Order: sequence, then structure tokens, then C-alpha cells
Amino acid sequence: MAAMRSFLFIPADSEKKLAKGDAIPADVLILDLEDAVAPENKARARQLAYEYLRDRPDNRPQQIWIRINTLDNPAAGSDLAAVLPARPDGVVLPKARSADDVILLGNRIGTYEAEHEIEANSTRILPVATETAASLFTIGDYRRAGPRLAGLTWGAEDLSAAVAATTNKEESGRWTAPFELARSLCLFGAHAAGVQAVDTLFSDFRDDGGLRASCEEARRDGFSGKLAIHPSQVEIINQAFTPSEEEVEQARRIVALFEANPGVGVLSLDGRMVDLPHLTQAQKILAAAEE
Ligand code: COA
Ligand code: MG
Repeated sequence: MAAMRSFLFIPADSEKKLAKGDAIPADVLILDLEDAVAPENKARARQLAYEYLRDRPDNRPQQIWIRINTLDNPAAGSDLAAVLPARPDGVVLPKARSADDVILLGNRIGTYEAEHEIEANSTRILPVATETAASLFTIGDYRRAGPRLAGLTWGAEDLSAAVAATTNKEESGRWTAPFELARSLCLFGAHAAGVQAVDTLFSDFRDDGGLRASCEEARRDGFSGKLAIHPSQVEIINQAFTPSEEEVEQARRIVALFEANPGVGVLSLDGRMVDLPHLTQAQKILAAAEE
């Protein structure tokens, strides 16, 4: 599968923003039917999302996903019925409570795949896995969500509202401790499930430097992509989550060193110890670079 570094939200009721989507180099466009769309515009947003998917050229480089409403809201059923026949590549599930929600959604998607001759299990799911307080206690268990699971991402705004936090950021701009915990749980939950960890959005879309720093921290920690809300964020995200030439070169050297020394668990390179975790890390960098 092609790399998924940048995931740009587009409110699906905005014809103007949808039209811009074609030229934006996001790996994934997420046509939003949930929070960015007012209740009175939901029906129109579904129709526009359907048409956008239906009319996309076959050779389009971006994946196109939709974000549906929460599963406890009948609007989610309307979202799926209206848009799935047009074959989105995936579905973002907001306020996911556990792997059970992904399984439930997957079963619902499966009926549309069967009805519309879409390959079984080809529609992927990305849950937003930290938006309720209870969800933080089930986040280690997503491995059983099955083959549709594309990654885990997290969100701070709905979680703040859920616990009546008055803010989620320190004055310095860093997450406060409770939200830092949610971020870390998303990271480890994703890797425990064997899927990619996708960092939450950086809301101050005029602050390119702040976004760059946030991407670098995320990549350093083990996230491999990030949500975006504005077109200007996409290239910064793509660049930050693409391994640099130097990283790739260094990874090649580590892999070559282990290949030249079969059966050896620990070696030295440029005066530093390298052992199996370094080899694993180097292999991951080369895999990411290949994508
Ligand atoms: N997708 C596509 N086009 C977008 C876009 C997006 N997410 N965000 C902005 N644009 C377009 C604007 O329409 C504008 O087009 P124009 O130059 O033809 O007028 C251009 O990019 C520049 O936008 P700008 O004026 O800088 O921003 P704005 O004030 O119009 O919009 C937001 C700011 C936050 C409302 C807008 O970026 C947005 O809707 N983001 C997505 C929000 C969302 O989906 N949230 C749900 C997930 S949290
Ligand atoms: Mg939300």
C-alpha cells in the first residue's frame, strides 16, 4: 500500500474546498461528514462526497476516505448508505470506544461491499481512538479489530470536552500531561496492533514552524503520519514523515553490517553499539523509504 503520511480533512459540504482537493498532494483526503458539517448540511455533504468519489479519475494519486458520524448516531447509517456505493478507500471512525466498534463498523461496511461488488475487506478503517474517557482503557486491544484496521489516530478536543478540561495545552504549546498520555497510548496501541500510528492535527494552521516541530517530535516518537486541516500543512507533513537521504544511508549501513556478520547479535558502527533493535529500526526506515 502507498505511504499514508498526510491525511487532510475537507468538510464535505464545501464544494469549493472539495474542488481544491484534486491539486493538494495529500496521501489521503478525508471527506468529513461529522463535526465540520452542521446538522442541516449533512444530507448535502453526503451527496457531494458521493459525487466526488464517483467522479474521481482512476489514476488519482490520493486515497479518498470519509469520516462518518459516531456509531451511536443514526446519521452514521445514512453516511454509509449514501457514500459507500461510491467506494471510498477507507472510513475514519470518530469517538471509537474499542475494537468492538471497528468490528461493528466493518460488518456494516461488509454488507455494502457485497452489494456493490467491492472486494471484501478492501475498505479500511482508521478509528480516532482517544475521544472518550473509557476509550483510553481499551486502546491496547485493537489487534483483534481485524484486517480492515489501517492505523490508530487520536484527538484531544473531544476528549477535553468529555472530561471538562479547561485546556489541553500548556502555555508553551505542549500538551498537558493527561493529553500527552492519550497521545502515548495511541502510539503504543497502534504498534501493539501492528498498524501505523497517526498523530492528531496541529490546529494553528498559520504556524508552519510549530507544525514542523510537532511533526518532528511525532516521527521521532514512532508516529508515521499526521492529520491535517489546511492545505498548507500537507507538504510539511509529507516531508517530515519521509525518511531523509542520510537516514536511509545509515539504515543501509546497519543492515549491511548485520548481513556481513551472520549470527552476531551485537556489533559496532562508528564507535557506537548496534544490536537487534537498531537492525529492526533500520529495516523499518528502509521499508518506509520504499513506500
Ligand atoms: N481542504 C481544501 N481546501 C481548503 C481547506 C481544506 N481543508 N482549508 C482551506 N481550504 C482552501 C480555502 O477554501 C481557501 O480557498 P480560496 O483561496 O480559494 O479562498 C484556501 O484553501 C486558503 O484557505 P484559508 O483562507 O487560509 O483558510 P479558511 O479561513 O478559508 O479556512 C478552516 C480555515 C480551518 C475553516 C479550513 O481550513 C477548514 O475547513 N479545514 C478543515 C476543517 C475540518 O474538516 N475539520 C474536521 C476535522 S478536525
Ligand atoms: Mg471531533
